Amino acid sequence: MSVKITKIRTICTAPQGINLVVIKVETNQPGLYGLGCGTFAYRHFAVKTIVDEYLDPLLRGRNAENIEELWQLMHQNAYWRNGPSENNAISGVDMALWDIKGKLANMPLYQLFGGKVREGVPVYRHADGRDIEEICDNILMYKDMGLQIIRCQCNGYGGSDYGYIPETAPEKASPGLYLDSKKYIRDTVQLFESIRNRIGFDIDLVHDVHERIAPIEAIKLAKELEPYDLFFLEDPISTENIDWLRELRSHTTTPIAQGELFNNPCEWKKIIAEHLIDFIRVHISQIGGITPAKKLQIFAEQFGVRTAWHGPGDMTPIAHAANIHIDLSASNFGVQEWSGIEPPNFVIQELKGPKDALTDVFSGLPEYKNGYVYANDKPGLGVDINEAEAAKYPCDSSVTIWTQTRKRDGSLQTP
Ligand code: GCO
Ligand code: MG
Repeated sequence: MSVKITKIRTICTAPQGINLVVIKVETNQPGLYGLGCGTFAYRHFAVKTIVDEYLDPLLRGRNAENIEELWQLMHQNAYWRNGPSENNAISGVDMALWDIKGKLANMPLYQLFGGKVREGVPVYRHADGRDIEEICDNILMYKDMGLQIIRCQCNGYGGSDYGYIPETAPEKASPGLYLDSKKYIRDTVQLFESIRNRIGFDIDLVHDVHERIAPIEAIKLAKELEPYDLFFLEDPISTENIDWLRELRSHTTTPIAQGELFNNPCEWKKIIAEHLIDFIRVHISQIGGITPAKKLQIFAEQFGVRTAWHGPGDMTPIAHAANIHIDLSASNFGVQEWSGIEPPNFVIQELKGPKDALTDVFSGLPEYKNGYVYANDKPGLGVDINEAEAAKYPCDSSVTIWTQTRKRDGSLQTP
C-alpha cells in the first residue's frame, strides 16, 4: 500500500526564547510520520499560515514517497516563488518527507545520501566578547573543548545597543543599532592582530561581517585581514551587491564564505561556477529543504566550492540534523557552524531560556564531542518532538529590533 499523506501540522515553539517552526507530516501508516524544520524566526506566523492553509490541503492524499515531485508541486503552486517564507514552509514538508523516507528504508539519511565519508563533522562555535580579554578567554575555552575552528566577533556584529543614538547622528534620528563601518573595520583588524599575537596560528579563525558594510569597505577589510590567515570571512557582501564578489575576489586571498541569506539557485549558481567564493553557506530551510540542499552541495562539488551550512540558534535540532546528515556524506564539506544546542556546555549569551528546555522538547539531537558532531543512527533524521513540552514555550511575535541597523547618518543598513 502506498504511503499517503493524511495531515500536515505546524508546531511553533520557543524553548530558548528563539521562535522555532516544526512541521509534522502524518501518513496512513500507523505510527509513521516525519518532522521537518521551517524556522523563519521573525515570520513564524507566515510560515505556519502557508503550511496550514495551503500546503496541507495541496498535499493531503498524495504519495509521501514522491519527494521530488511534491517539492516541485509546492514550489510552483503559488506561481510566484523563491521567497523565504514560502521556502521555509516547503522545507518543513520536504525535510519531513526525507525523514519518512529514512524510516521506510530503516536507515539514517546519511546512508541514503551515499554513506559516510567522515565519522564526525568538524564544527565551529562563536567566541564573542566585549573586549580582547573576554574574546580570547572564550577562544581558549572552545580550544579546550576540542574545537579547531572558531568564529571571533567583538560585541556580535559591531555597533551600538538598540536605542543609543550617537552624537554623530543628525537631529531627530531614529532609534536603531548604529554602526560606524570605518571604526568597525579598524577594530576588527586590531582584534585579529591581538588574537594572533596572544594565541598564535594553530587555531583556525573565521569572522562574520554580516553584510553590514559597503562593498569597497569589505574589500579593504578582507585585504587587511590577510596577515591573520582566516579560514574564511563570512558574508562580506550583501546579497543585493553580490556582483561585487568579483572585485573582492580579485583583490584578496582571504577565503570567502557567502550565502546564509540566499533563497534560490539564481543567487548562487554564477558565483559558484566562477569560483567567486570558497564556501557556500546557505540556511537549508530558507532554500526549501534537503532536496535543494543536496542539489546545491553536488553542484558546488563540481566547481571545488565547499559547504559551510548556516547553523545558528534560530533553527530546530531537526534542521541541525539535516545539516549533519548531508555533512557526513559530502566530499566537498568545508565546516559546519554549530550554535551549541547541547547542554551543559551552552554559551548562555547566545541562547536564552532554561538550559535544558530544548532537550525537554526535542530528543535525538546530534551530539557534540571534542570538536566534532555525530548523528545518531536512528532511521531518517533521528530527531523527535514532545508536543506537550513544545506547547509550554509559545513563540513571540513582537517587533524585531536587532535588524534595525543604521549608519552614522541614521539611514538603514542591511542587518
Ligand atoms: C550566523 C548568522 C546568525 C544570524 C541569525 C539571524 O552566522 O550564525 O549570521 O547569527 O544573524 O541566524 O537570525
Ligand atoms: Mg552569519
